[in-house]
Amino acid sequence: MTSSKILLLILVATASAFTYNEAIAKENAALSFAAYCPNAAINNWSVGYVSNQYPDLTNIEVFENLIQGTKGYIAYNKKESAIVVVFRGSSNIQNWIEDVSFGKIAYNLACKCRVHTGFYDAFLSLKPKIDNLFPGYVTKYPYASIHVTGHSLGGAMGTFYALQLAESGKTVQLFTYGSPRVGDPDFYDWFTKYTKITHFRVVNQNDTVPHIPLYAMGFYHQDREIWYHDGTHTVCAVTRGEDKTCSYSVKSTSNADHSTYIGLSSQVDC
Ligand SMILES: *[C@@H]1O[C@H](CO)[C@@H](O)[C@H](O)[C@H]1NC(C)=O
Ligand SMILES: *[C@@H]1O[C@H](CO)[C@@H](O)[C@H](O)[C@H]1NC(C)=O
Repeated sequence: MTSSKILLLILVATASAFTYNEAIAKENAALSFAAYCPNAAINNWSVGYVSNQYPDLTNIEVFENLIQGTKGYIAYNKKESAIVVVFRGSSNIQNWIEDVSFGKIAYNLACKCRVHTGFYDAFLSLKPKIDNLFPGYVTKYPYASIHVTGHSLGGAMGTFYALQLAESGKTVQLFTYGSPRVGDPDFYDWFTKYTKITHFRVVNQNDTVPHIPLYAMGFYHQDREIWYHDGTHTVCAVTRGEDKTCSYSVKSTSNADHSTYIGLSSQVDC
């Protein structure tokens, strides 16, 4: 085989590793929205349309930090043969959007990168709990894939958690919905180095949250954006500093667009 043929095969293999599957994206959106339900409903998996459409979760355990008001859950998804870790967004999204600050804190010494202080603190408030629960699932389901997901602030926390898993050598599928920007350009580089994370960063139309904190204040998004707009969706380009033709191009943002993803409402009747 000529080297150009080998190169072509490598390119094809690389390109096919990233495939956006809308049915899986929809399921992860539903699981993210279920995190807003009361703990008893989550533990019991009686979470309205989510458990009706996706009944296959077992071994569910909610984790939360009552002082910080942060929460999530871990479960085994039989249908996907996956351990799923779900992070909840803020319980009062409107206030949260208004209060988002711009401070950055060092992520670690090796990356010399910085992340959003508030989002990282939120993640750290749950980290001891999830670190305590996760190994038991890996022992119980050693061949399972690992899926991490979350909406809004939950997307930011999921981004940190997926990175933590990838840093420890795990392969992770990450779906985020309406995630804010979590880190600086150096954090983009650090995250992007971990090719074991496949990140689908889903953005609905004019959703306000992916526009905060401001790009102009040195916050970058992680790839790869999937932008829903005008009744279709675009798989955006991989680029350090966002595909400017995707949601970045939106001039007038909408808080209402934050609460609907892939035809599902974040308001679960549970
Ligand atoms: C748990 O689910 C069952 C049926 O699915 C229901 O009857 C029961 O009330 C639920 N319990 C809680 C605490 O939600
Ligand atoms: C969404 O953004 C587009 C492009 O900037 C704009 O034309 C449209 O009016 C916006 N819609 C809402 C509801 O803000």
